[in-house]
Amino acid sequence: MRIGTPLGPDPTRVLLLGSGELGKEVAIAFQRLGVEVVAVDRYPHAPAHQVAHRWHAIDMTDPVTLATLIEQESPDLIIPEIEALATNALVEIEAAGTTVVPTARAAQLTMDREGIRRLAAEKLGLPTSPYAFADTLEEVRAAVDEVGLPCVLKPVMSSSGKGQSLLRSADDAEAAWEHARTAGRVPNPRVIVEGFVEFDYEITQLTVRHAGGTAFCEPIGHRQEHGDYVESWQPQPMSQAALAASQDIAGRVTDALGGLGVFGVELFVREGAEPEVLFSEVSPRPHDTGLVTLATQRLSEFELHARAVLGLPVDTGLRTPGASAVVYGGADIEAPGYTGVAEALAVEGADLRLFGKPHATERRRMGVAVAHADDVDTARDRATRAAGLVHPVPRG
Ligand SMILES: Nc1ncnc2c1ncn2[C@@H]1O[C@H](COP(=O)(O)OP(=O)(O)O)[C@@H](O)[C@H]1O
Ligand SMILES: [Mg+2]
Repeated sequence: MRIGTPLGPDPTRVLLLGSGELGKEVAIAFQRLGVEVVAVDRYPHAPAHQVAHRWHAIDMTDPVTLATLIEQESPDLIIPEIEALATNALVEIEAAGTTVVPTARAAQLTMDREGIRRLAAEKLGLPTSPYAFADTLEEVRAAVDEVGLPCVLKPVMSSSGKGQSLLRSADDAEAAWEHARTAGRVPNPRVIVEGFVEFDYEITQLTVRHAGGTAFCEPIGHRQEHGDYVESWQPQPMSQAALAASQDIAGRVTDALGGLGVFGVELFVREGAEPEVLFSEVSPRPHDTGLVTLATQRLSEFELHARAVLGLPVDTGLRTPGASAVVYGGADIEAPGYTGVAEALAVEGADLRLFGKPHATERRRMGVAVAHADDVDTARDRATRAAGLVHPVPRG
């Protein structure tokens, strides 16, 4: 393994497809290793654009546009940071010899809930909630009948809870179907109906496939609202049996996806005499709930990702308990300013990341507070207090 000089005649170049807050931290991790970073998103001045050697704003769902840019940049590694990509183009580019992280097939399977669910449940035999797919309202009604109530309906192509509804009665089917059709990522009407799982808690099992094997981070607990993460903490207390089951599932699903890098395996856990762990979904890249690792691990999930994909050694050890809490836009604001930063940073053990997004909306994630403490409860309190002190405000 040899790393070249950025902007020199023979750099080691990575192309980040997606330049959000997770991509920004990945870019910084690569920058620290002297890697040349090219960041791509659909709009200019995205978070990772601001810390890259070069940036582009293109439509990454268009296969020709994406392939043309990849040819122009000729990266050593292509690193997807989002799901909404022309993954067919990535499959061809990988076949022609450029590495896609972790693999083009992993990007393809996980951009579509059907691909990953069928792999996990039907091919690997992992435990999941009951589920069925539907393309019409009639099929949705049949799927709800089959899966049972309550259940959750989601577009197969969507993330951050977009287009998701909880159905408590069969009468909710039509509204849920309409919501999914209008809020999904692409004009693909297909939805998954999943049985609602009454879990005790849910975790993200960060799993690192690296040159020396597979390593696990301490489990991350999190709380979601409207299908979007609000706060996370590490470590989530778990029984030995539930932890072993979680790592077993995470190991099996990431083995099946292959390649090198960090994976966020989302699991639902019910404790008890015989703990039950259900596979929910997996991101073949750092996970938003894993922002907490900026405060808790010697190597954050972003540094782990950079190291793993370059074939370098990793260390997944926890340094301290910690927590993260999201700063939302709160309102529609162009080029917002931020008040309360000093107050937030005065909270003991707290730190802040402001993503620098050019436009705020009510539910848009604009920053995150992370905090460490001797125990998770104190860390959660610190992170939540710090995040609550920061306010995006209009100019002037
Ligand atoms: N079948 C389910 N049962 C219970 N809660 C669920 C179920 N599916 C999703 N959720 C809740 O919604 C959150 C987001 O759903 P998820 O499938 O992870 O979508 P996304 O891809 O948008 O992250 C989950 O983390 C969980 O809190
Ligand atoms: Mg999720």
